[in-house]
Amino acid sequence: MLSSQIKFAIQGQEHIVNVADVDPNTTLNEYLRHHMSLMGTKRMCYEGGCGACVVAVTKTGEQKPMAINSCLVSILTCHGWKIDTIEGIGNPVTKYHPIQQTLANFNGTQCGFCSPGMVMNMYALFEKEKPTMAEVENSFGGNICRCTGYRPILSAFKSLCKDASTDLLGKYPDIEDMLCTKSKKSGVPKRELKVCISKHPVKVNFKDSQWTKVYTLKDLLGNLAKIGDDPYMLVAGNSAKGVYKLPTPKHYIDIIEVKELISHEVNGDMLRLGGNMSLTNTMDLFNEMAKTNDKFAYLKTMADHIDLIANVPVRNVSW
Ligand code: FES
Ligand code: FES
Repeated sequence: MLSSQIKFAIQGQEHIVNVADVDPNTTLNEYLRHHMSLMGTKRMCYEGGCGACVVAVTKTGEQKPMAINSCLVSILTCHGWKIDTIEGIGNPVTKYHPIQQTLANFNGTQCGFCSPGMVMNMYALFEKEKPTMAEVENSFGGNICRCTGYRPILSAFKSLCKDASTDLLGKYPDIEDMLCTKSKKSGVPKRELKVCISKHPVKVNFKDSQWTKVYTLKDLLGNLAKIGDDPYMLVAGNSAKGVYKLPTPKHYIDIIEVKELISHEVNGDMLRLGGNMSLTNTMDLFNEMAKTNDKFAYLKTMADHIDLIANVPVRNVSW
């Protein structure tokens, strides 16, 4: 079965893309701002370097969100995803999210241009697992602030951590209390992924090109066989777009959710990684294996090295 519809959930509501309005180069950022008038998500460098465009997304079948640079990811890749933007997590009408409120309390915002990206990066970090202060300190290398200065921003976010220092703790209400009070008072709905996705290939035809999203290796190989010698591009997080300005191919094949490529296997002292494991997932795997298996203790050094590559939102979708 083949579908030609691109749909995702934005702030918990299903949204179907009118493919006549987009092409494979339309980014999630352009779509949010110009088609959905969600101007809270900013943009500046278009290269995954400034973090102004960060939003939180939850991929099909996953529970936890991750921060991504909306300036890089194609809107077509978002099929089946749950997307949260700064407007969705809190606003003056439904009440600000505690992360937004804490940033303001600590005077961590001046012009406010970087603030949505800062908040959404923290939001994804926090939703994954309440972070430590060291994790916060190490997770904002991809967010640039040109006016406030980083100390109040980091102090604000560190005050929300599980090991927040005493000078930060107690300065403002605890985030757990704020979250309870907020949902009692404002009735903030639990944000469910309402979009219903069957993992069948999606094919969208454009004037000069074709976009196909596949979910299995078999479908990927089938598509490559059909394409023959035509130029094609395998697309996942599209993070190379920031560095390499590539010519437009005739065929795009989206492989971000091909399950065989995002798995790994251990055989004796050999570890085999699928070609589409994100740098973040690879780091997590390396750290876990180094901790639990002496034979793989060296992987900790490799994880530490990956930590020096790019930044959190880029590593979340880079391979
Ligand atoms: S606009 Fe700078 S990282 Fe996206
Ligand atoms: S508050 Fe102005 S760029 Fe950060």
